[in-house]
Amino acid sequence: MLSNRIQKLRPSATLAINAKAIELKKQGIDILKFGTGEPDFDTPEHIKQAAKQALDEGFTKYTAATGIPELKAAIADKFKRDNSIVCAPEDIIVSVGGKQALYNILMALLNPGDEVLLPSPYWVSYADMILVCDGVVKTIDTRPNHFKLTAKMVEKAITPKSKVLILNSPGNPTGMVIEQKEIEKIAEIAQKNRLYIISDEVYEYFLYDGKKHFSIASLPDMQDLVFTINAVSKTYSMTGWRIGYMTGPKEFIKPISSLQSHSTSNPCSIAQKAALAAITGPQDCVKEMVAEFEKRRDFVYEGFNDIPGFKIEKPEGAFYAFPDISATSKNGFELAELLLEKARVAVVPGGAFGKEGNQFIRFSFASSIADIKEGLRRIKKALS
Ligand SMILES: Cc1ncc(COP(=O)(O)O)c(C=O)c1O
Repeated sequence: MLSNRIQKLRPSATLAINAKAIELKKQGIDILKFGTGEPDFDTPEHIKQAAKQALDEGFTKYTAATGIPELKAAIADKFKRDNSIVCAPEDIIVSVGGKQALYNILMALLNPGDEVLLPSPYWVSYADMILVCDGVVKTIDTRPNHFKLTAKMVEKAITPKSKVLILNSPGNPTGMVIEQKEIEKIAEIAQKNRLYIISDEVYEYFLYDGKKHFSIASLPDMQDLVFTINAVSKTYSMTGWRIGYMTGPKEFIKPISSLQSHSTSNPCSIAQKAALAAITGPQDCVKEMVAEFEKRRDFVYEGFNDIPGFKIEKPEGAFYAFPDISATSKNGFELAELLLEKARVAVVPGGAFGKEGNQFIRFSFASSIADIKEGLRRIKKALS
Protein backbone atom coordinates (compact mmCIF):
# COMPACT_ATOMS: atom_id res chain seq x y z
CA MET A 1 0.00 0.00 0.00
CA LEU A 2 1.42 3.37 -1.01
CA SER A 3 2.21 5.89 1.71
CA ASN A 4 -0.16 8.82 2.19
CA ARG A 5 2.73 11.07 1.30
CA ILE A 6 3.42 9.58 -2.09
CA GLN A 7 -0.26 9.49 -2.93
CA LYS A 8 -0.32 13.27 -2.74
CA LEU A 9 1.83 13.48 -5.88
CA ARG A 10 -0.34 14.35 -8.82
CA PRO A 11 0.06 12.78 -12.24
CA SER A 12 1.81 15.16 -14.59
CA ALA A 13 -0.71 17.40 -16.30
CA THR A 14 1.27 17.17 -19.51
CA LEU A 15 1.64 13.40 -19.59
CA ALA A 16 -1.21 12.74 -22.03
CA ILE A 17 -0.08 15.38 -24.48
CA ASN A 18 3.56 14.28 -24.26
CA ALA A 19 2.55 10.69 -24.90
CA LYS A 20 0.64 11.81 -27.97
CA ALA A 21 3.62 13.84 -29.26
CA ILE A 22 5.91 10.82 -28.83
CA GLU A 23 3.42 8.57 -30.60
CA LEU A 24 3.17 10.98 -33.56
CA LYS A 25 6.97 11.25 -33.78
CA LYS A 26 7.22 7.45 -33.79
CA GLN A 27 4.89 7.41 -36.78
CA GLY A 28 7.43 9.60 -38.57
CA ILE A 29 5.35 12.77 -38.28
CA ASP A 30 7.42 15.94 -38.06
CA ILE A 31 6.59 17.52 -34.68
CA LEU A 32 8.16 20.84 -33.70
CA LYS A 33 8.73 20.79 -29.95
CA PHE A 34 8.44 23.96 -27.90
CA GLY A 35 7.85 22.29 -24.58
CA THR A 36 11.39 21.92 -23.30
CA GLY A 37 12.79 23.71 -20.28
CA GLU A 38 16.44 23.62 -21.26
CA PRO A 39 18.72 25.65 -23.54
CA ASP A 40 19.29 23.99 -26.92
CA PHE A 41 23.02 24.89 -26.90
CA ASP A 42 25.77 22.37 -26.24
CA THR A 43 27.68 22.61 -22.95
CA PRO A 44 30.70 24.89 -23.66
CA GLU A 45 33.91 23.09 -24.62
CA HIS A 46 36.07 24.23 -21.67
CA ILE A 47 33.49 22.78 -19.27
CA LYS A 48 33.48 19.44 -21.05
CA GLN A 49 37.29 19.46 -21.02
CA ALA A 50 37.29 19.87 -17.23
CA ALA A 51 35.08 16.79 -16.93
CA LYS A 52 37.34 14.80 -19.25
CA GLN A 53 40.34 15.82 -17.17
CA ALA A 54 38.56 14.76 -13.96
CA LEU A 55 37.92 11.35 -15.49
CA ASP A 56 41.51 11.00 -16.71
CA GLU A 57 42.80 11.91 -13.28
CA GLY A 58 40.58 9.30 -11.65
CA PHE A 59 38.41 11.83 -9.84
CA THR A 60 35.67 9.23 -9.68
CA LYS A 61 35.14 8.52 -5.98
CA TYR A 62 32.90 9.86 -3.24
CA THR A 63 33.49 13.50 -2.36
CA ALA A 64 32.32 15.38 0.73
CA ALA A 65 28.51 15.06 0.74
CA THR A 66 27.96 18.81 0.32
CA GLY A 67 30.51 19.23 -2.46
CA ILE A 68 34.24 19.69 -3.03
CA PRO A 69 35.77 22.62 -1.12
CA GLU A 70 37.05 24.43 -4.23
CA LEU A 71 33.57 24.42 -5.80
CA LYS A 72 31.96 25.66 -2.58
CA ALA A 73 34.58 28.44 -2.40
CA ALA A 74 33.89 29.38 -6.04
CA ILE A 75 30.13 29.49 -5.35
CA ALA A 76 30.63 31.68 -2.26
CA ASP A 77 32.71 34.06 -4.45
CA LYS A 78 30.02 34.01 -7.13
CA PHE A 79 27.30 34.82 -4.60
CA LYS A 80 29.34 37.79 -3.40
CA ARG A 81 30.30 39.01 -6.88
CA ASP A 82 26.97 38.62 -8.68
CA ASN A 83 24.39 38.70 -5.91
CA SER A 84 25.93 40.70 -3.04
CA ILE A 85 25.19 37.73 -0.80
CA VAL A 86 27.84 37.30 1.85
CA CYS A 87 28.38 33.69 2.89
CA ALA A 88 31.28 31.39 3.66
CA PRO A 89 32.08 28.21 1.67
CA GLU A 90 30.80 26.15 4.62
CA ASP A 91 27.39 27.82 4.21
CA ILE A 92 27.06 26.32 0.71
CA ILE A 93 25.56 22.96 -0.20
CA VAL A 94 26.14 21.61 -3.70
CA SER A 95 23.33 19.28 -4.74
CA VAL A 96 21.94 17.18 -7.55
CA GLY A 97 20.47 20.06 -9.54
CA GLY A 98 18.51 22.98 -8.20
CA LYS A 99 15.69 20.51 -7.65
CA GLN A 100 17.43 18.64 -4.87
CA ALA A 101 18.32 21.89 -3.14
CA LEU A 102 14.66 22.90 -3.21
CA TYR A 103 13.48 19.53 -1.99
CA ASN A 104 16.01 19.48 0.86
CA ILE A 105 14.97 22.95 1.99
CA LEU A 106 11.27 22.09 2.02
CA MET A 107 12.04 18.88 3.93
CA ALA A 108 13.94 20.90 6.50
CA LEU A 109 11.31 23.64 6.82
CA LEU A 110 7.88 22.06 6.72
CA ASN A 111 5.81 20.40 9.40
CA PRO A 112 2.42 18.94 8.51
CA GLY A 113 -0.04 21.72 7.78
CA ASP A 114 2.54 24.50 7.28
CA GLU A 115 1.51 26.75 4.43
CA VAL A 116 3.75 27.70 1.55
CA LEU A 117 2.75 30.81 -0.37
CA LEU A 118 3.23 30.07 -4.04
CA PRO A 119 2.85 32.80 -6.66
CA SER A 120 0.90 31.30 -9.53
CA PRO A 121 1.26 30.34 -12.39
CA TYR A 122 4.22 28.47 -10.88
CA TRP A 123 6.89 26.00 -11.97
CA VAL A 124 5.16 22.69 -11.55
CA SER A 125 7.58 20.88 -9.20
CA TYR A 126 7.13 23.43 -6.40
CA ALA A 127 3.59 22.30 -5.68
CA ASP A 128 4.29 18.58 -5.68
CA MET A 129 7.39 18.96 -3.53
CA ILE A 130 5.41 20.98 -0.99
CA LEU A 131 2.73 18.29 -0.89
CA VAL A 132 5.18 15.43 -0.48
CA CYS A 133 6.81 17.33 2.38
CA ASP A 134 3.37 17.51 4.07
CA GLY A 135 2.99 21.22 3.44
CA VAL A 136 -0.08 23.06 2.19
CA VAL A 137 0.07 24.96 -1.10
CA LYS A 138 -1.47 28.41 -0.92
CA THR A 139 -1.35 29.99 -4.34
CA ILE A 140 -1.24 33.72 -4.95
CA ASP A 141 -2.80 34.72 -8.26
CA THR A 142 -0.33 37.02 -10.02
CA ARG A 143 -2.41 37.52 -13.17
CA PRO A 144 -3.84 40.87 -12.06
CA ASN A 145 -0.34 42.39 -12.10
CA HIS A 146 1.11 40.93 -15.30
CA PHE A 147 2.32 37.85 -13.36
CA LYS A 148 4.47 40.04 -11.10
CA LEU A 149 4.13 39.30 -7.41
CA THR A 150 3.63 42.35 -5.18
CA ALA A 151 4.16 42.84 -1.45
CA LYS A 152 0.45 43.66 -1.14
CA MET A 153 -0.47 40.29 -2.64
CA VAL A 154 1.81 38.55 -0.14
CA GLU A 155 0.42 40.51 2.79
CA LYS A 156 -3.14 39.63 1.80
CA ALA A 157 -2.33 35.92 1.47
CA ILE A 158 -0.55 35.47 4.80
CA THR A 159 -2.32 33.46 7.51
CA PRO A 160 -1.02 32.32 10.92
CA LYS A 161 -0.04 29.04 9.24
CA SER A 162 2.10 30.64 6.50
CA LYS A 163 5.72 29.68 6.95
CA VAL A 164 7.37 30.04 3.56
CA LEU A 165 7.11 32.15 0.41
CA ILE A 166 8.61 30.99 -2.88
CA LEU A 167 10.10 33.62 -5.16
CA ASN A 168 11.13 32.77 -8.70
CA SER A 169 12.38 35.75 -10.67
CA PRO A 170 12.93 35.61 -13.60
CA GLY A 171 10.05 33.18 -13.53
CA ASN A 172 9.08 29.94 -15.16
CA PRO A 173 6.54 29.72 -16.87
CA THR A 174 5.77 33.45 -17.28
CA GLY A 175 9.19 35.00 -17.99
CA MET A 176 8.38 37.86 -15.61
CA VAL A 177 10.80 39.69 -13.34
CA ILE A 178 10.04 41.21 -9.92
CA GLU A 179 11.64 44.65 -9.61
CA GLN A 180 14.09 45.46 -6.80
CA LYS A 181 11.72 48.00 -5.19
CA GLU A 182 8.99 45.37 -4.88
CA ILE A 183 11.45 42.79 -3.57
CA GLU A 184 12.43 45.25 -0.85
CA LYS A 185 8.79 45.62 0.17
CA ILE A 186 8.32 41.85 0.15
CA ALA A 187 11.36 41.54 2.43
CA GLU A 188 9.74 43.95 4.91
CA ILE A 189 6.59 41.83 5.01
CA ALA A 190 8.67 38.68 5.44
CA GLN A 191 10.52 40.21 8.39
CA LYS A 192 7.34 41.45 10.00
CA ASN A 193 5.76 38.00 9.75
CA ARG A 194 8.89 35.82 10.19
CA LEU A 195 8.20 34.29 6.81
CA TYR A 196 10.97 32.21 5.28
CA ILE A 197 11.76 32.85 1.64
CA ILE A 198 13.05 30.38 -0.92
CA SER A 199 14.45 32.43 -3.77
CA ASP A 200 14.89 30.30 -6.87
CA GLU A 201 17.31 32.21 -9.08
CA VAL A 202 18.14 29.61 -11.73
CA TYR A 203 17.25 32.04 -14.54
CA GLU A 204 19.16 34.99 -13.06
CA TYR A 205 21.27 35.65 -16.18
CA PHE A 206 18.42 35.21 -18.65
CA LEU A 207 17.36 38.86 -18.59
CA TYR A 208 16.43 41.11 -21.50
CA ASP A 209 16.18 44.85 -22.23
CA GLY A 210 19.05 45.57 -19.84
CA LYS A 211 17.14 44.34 -16.77
CA LYS A 212 19.20 43.64 -13.65
CA HIS A 213 18.80 40.72 -11.29
CA PHE A 214 18.32 41.40 -7.59
CA SER A 215 18.72 38.82 -4.82
CA ILE A 216 16.52 39.25 -1.77
CA ALA A 217 19.20 37.63 0.43
CA SER A 218 21.43 40.66 -0.19
CA LEU A 219 19.12 42.92 1.86
CA PRO A 220 20.09 43.69 5.45
CA ASP A 221 18.75 41.32 8.10
CA MET A 222 17.41 38.84 5.57
CA GLN A 223 20.12 36.21 5.86
CA ASP A 224 18.33 34.33 8.63
CA LEU A 225 15.15 34.10 6.54
CA VAL A 226 16.25 33.54 2.94
CA PHE A 227 17.37 30.41 1.13
CA THR A 228 18.91 31.15 -2.26
CA ILE A 229 18.87 28.37 -4.83
CA ASN A 230 20.79 28.32 -8.08
CA ALA A 231 22.24 25.81 -10.53
CA VAL A 232 24.63 25.57 -13.46
CA SER A 233 21.85 23.78 -15.37
CA LYS A 234 20.36 26.65 -17.38
CA THR A 235 23.21 29.18 -17.17
CA TYR A 236 25.81 26.96 -18.84
CA SER A 237 23.45 24.65 -20.71
CA MET A 238 24.29 21.81 -18.31
CA THR A 239 20.86 20.41 -17.47
CA GLY A 240 22.03 16.81 -17.69
CA TRP A 241 25.03 17.26 -15.42
CA ARG A 242 22.82 17.76 -12.37
CA ILE A 243 24.63 20.38 -10.32
CA GLY A 244 22.72 22.91 -8.24
CA TYR A 245 23.57 24.77 -5.07
CA MET A 246 22.10 26.71 -2.19
CA THR A 247 22.88 28.84 0.79
CA GLY A 248 20.58 29.83 3.62
CA PRO A 249 20.19 30.51 7.33
CA LYS A 250 23.11 29.03 9.27
CA GLU A 251 20.99 26.84 11.57
CA PHE A 252 19.70 24.95 8.51
CA ILE A 253 23.01 24.16 6.83
CA LYS A 254 24.06 21.24 9.05
CA PRO A 255 20.64 19.52 9.12
CA ILE A 256 20.28 19.86 5.34
CA SER A 257 23.82 18.50 4.90
CA SER A 258 22.85 15.46 7.01
CA LEU A 259 19.70 14.92 4.96
CA GLN A 260 21.71 15.01 1.75
CA SER A 261 24.42 12.74 3.13
CA HIS A 262 21.81 10.13 4.10
CA SER A 263 19.91 10.34 0.82
CA THR A 264 22.16 10.91 -2.21
CA SER A 265 25.57 11.72 -0.69
CA ASN A 266 27.60 13.94 -2.95
CA PRO A 267 26.52 15.06 -6.41
CA CYS A 268 28.56 13.44 -9.22
CA SER A 269 32.29 14.09 -8.68
CA ILE A 270 33.00 14.65 -12.38
CA ALA A 271 30.09 17.03 -12.80
CA GLN A 272 31.34 19.02 -9.80
CA LYS A 273 34.68 19.58 -11.57
CA ALA A 274 32.78 20.66 -14.67
CA ALA A 275 30.68 23.07 -12.58
CA LEU A 276 33.86 24.51 -11.09
CA ALA A 277 35.18 25.23 -14.59
CA ALA A 278 31.81 26.75 -15.51
CA ILE A 279 31.65 29.13 -12.54
CA THR A 280 35.33 30.16 -12.50
CA GLY A 281 35.95 30.11 -16.27
CA PRO A 282 35.21 32.67 -19.00
CA GLN A 283 31.62 33.89 -18.95
CA ASP A 284 31.33 34.96 -22.63
CA CYS A 285 29.45 31.74 -23.38
CA VAL A 286 26.64 32.89 -21.09
CA LYS A 287 26.50 36.36 -22.64
CA GLU A 288 26.39 34.90 -26.15
CA MET A 289 23.59 32.50 -25.27
CA VAL A 290 21.53 35.20 -23.57
CA ALA A 291 21.99 37.55 -26.57
CA GLU A 292 20.64 34.80 -28.83
CA PHE A 293 17.70 34.22 -26.48
CA GLU A 294 16.88 37.92 -26.54
CA LYS A 295 16.67 37.83 -30.35
CA ARG A 296 14.36 34.83 -30.13
CA ARG A 297 12.29 36.51 -27.46
CA ASP A 298 11.71 39.50 -29.78
CA PHE A 299 10.82 37.20 -32.61
CA VAL A 300 8.37 35.15 -30.54
CA TYR A 301 6.77 38.26 -29.07
CA GLU A 302 6.15 39.77 -32.49
CA GLY A 303 5.03 36.41 -33.87
CA PHE A 304 2.38 35.83 -31.20
CA ASN A 305 1.16 39.40 -31.50
CA ASP A 306 0.41 38.61 -35.10
CA ILE A 307 -1.76 35.56 -34.32
CA PRO A 308 -5.45 36.34 -33.81
CA GLY A 309 -6.71 35.07 -30.45
CA PHE A 310 -3.34 35.34 -28.70
CA LYS A 311 -2.46 38.06 -26.20
CA ILE A 312 1.07 38.11 -24.90
CA GLU A 313 3.06 39.89 -22.19
CA LYS A 314 6.62 40.54 -23.36
CA PRO A 315 8.85 38.06 -21.49
CA GLU A 316 11.48 39.97 -19.49
CA GLY A 317 13.60 36.96 -18.64
CA ALA A 318 13.93 33.14 -18.74
CA PHE A 319 13.10 31.54 -22.11
CA TYR A 320 9.36 31.08 -22.08
CA ALA A 321 6.48 32.94 -23.67
CA PHE A 322 3.13 32.55 -21.91
CA PRO A 323 0.40 33.86 -24.20
CA ASP A 324 -3.21 34.25 -23.06
CA ILE A 325 -5.29 32.22 -25.48
CA SER A 326 -8.75 32.81 -24.02
CA ALA A 327 -9.89 34.60 -27.18
CA THR A 328 -9.51 31.31 -29.09
CA SER A 329 -12.44 30.07 -26.92
CA LYS A 330 -10.35 27.06 -25.91
CA ASN A 331 -8.50 26.42 -22.68
CA GLY A 332 -4.77 25.65 -22.65
CA PHE A 333 -5.23 21.88 -22.67
CA GLU A 334 -7.67 21.97 -25.56
CA LEU A 335 -5.50 24.34 -27.55
CA ALA A 336 -2.30 22.34 -26.92
CA GLU A 337 -4.10 19.26 -28.20
CA LEU A 338 -5.40 21.06 -31.25
CA LEU A 339 -1.95 22.49 -32.04
CA LEU A 340 -0.43 19.05 -31.81
CA GLU A 341 -3.01 17.55 -34.13
CA LYS A 342 -3.45 20.35 -36.64
CA ALA A 343 -0.14 22.21 -36.56
CA ARG A 344 2.20 19.41 -35.46
CA VAL A 345 3.51 21.76 -32.79
CA ALA A 346 4.05 20.71 -29.15
CA VAL A 347 3.56 23.32 -26.40
CA VAL A 348 2.74 22.96 -22.69
CA PRO A 349 -0.83 23.71 -21.55
CA GLY A 350 -0.71 26.57 -19.04
CA GLY A 351 -2.88 24.61 -16.59
CA ALA A 352 0.16 22.42 -15.91
CA PHE A 353 1.43 25.41 -13.90
CA GLY A 354 -1.56 25.78 -11.62
CA LYS A 355 -5.20 26.57 -12.32
CA GLU A 356 -4.30 30.25 -12.75
CA GLY A 357 -2.54 29.14 -15.96
CA ASN A 358 -5.59 27.49 -17.52
CA GLN A 359 -6.13 30.14 -20.18
CA PHE A 360 -2.53 30.14 -21.35
CA ILE A 361 0.02 27.98 -23.11
CA ARG A 362 3.77 27.91 -22.47
CA PHE A 363 5.98 28.17 -25.52
CA SER A 364 9.68 27.65 -24.86
CA PHE A 365 11.97 29.58 -27.18
CA ALA A 366 14.91 27.25 -26.58
CA SER A 367 14.80 26.37 -30.29
CA SER A 368 16.42 27.84 -33.39
CA ILE A 369 14.87 30.93 -35.00
CA ALA A 370 14.13 28.79 -38.07
CA ASP A 371 12.09 26.32 -36.00
CA ILE A 372 10.36 29.13 -34.11
CA LYS A 373 9.45 30.82 -37.39
CA GLU A 374 8.01 27.60 -38.79
CA GLY A 375 6.22 26.83 -35.50
CA LEU A 376 4.54 30.23 -35.42
CA ARG A 377 3.56 29.91 -39.08
CA ARG A 378 1.93 26.55 -38.38
CA ILE A 379 0.10 27.84 -35.30
CA LYS A 380 -1.26 30.83 -37.22
CA LYS A 381 -2.42 28.61 -40.06
CA ALA A 382 -4.06 26.08 -37.71
CA LEU A 383 -6.08 28.85 -36.08
CA SER A 384 -7.16 30.66 -39.23
C1 LIG B 1 12.15 27.56 -11.90
C2 LIG B 1 13.01 26.36 -11.92
N1 LIG B 1 13.67 26.04 -10.80
C3 LIG B 1 14.47 24.96 -10.73
C4 LIG B 1 14.61 24.13 -11.83
C5 LIG B 1 15.43 22.87 -11.68
O1 LIG B 1 16.68 23.01 -12.15
P1 LIG B 1 17.69 21.78 -12.13
O2 LIG B 1 17.65 21.18 -13.49
O3 LIG B 1 19.00 22.39 -11.78
O4 LIG B 1 17.25 20.81 -11.08
C6 LIG B 1 13.93 24.41 -13.02
C7 LIG B 1 14.02 23.52 -14.18
O5 LIG B 1 13.23 23.50 -15.07
C8 LIG B 1 13.11 25.57 -13.05
O6 LIG B 1 12.45 25.90 -14.17
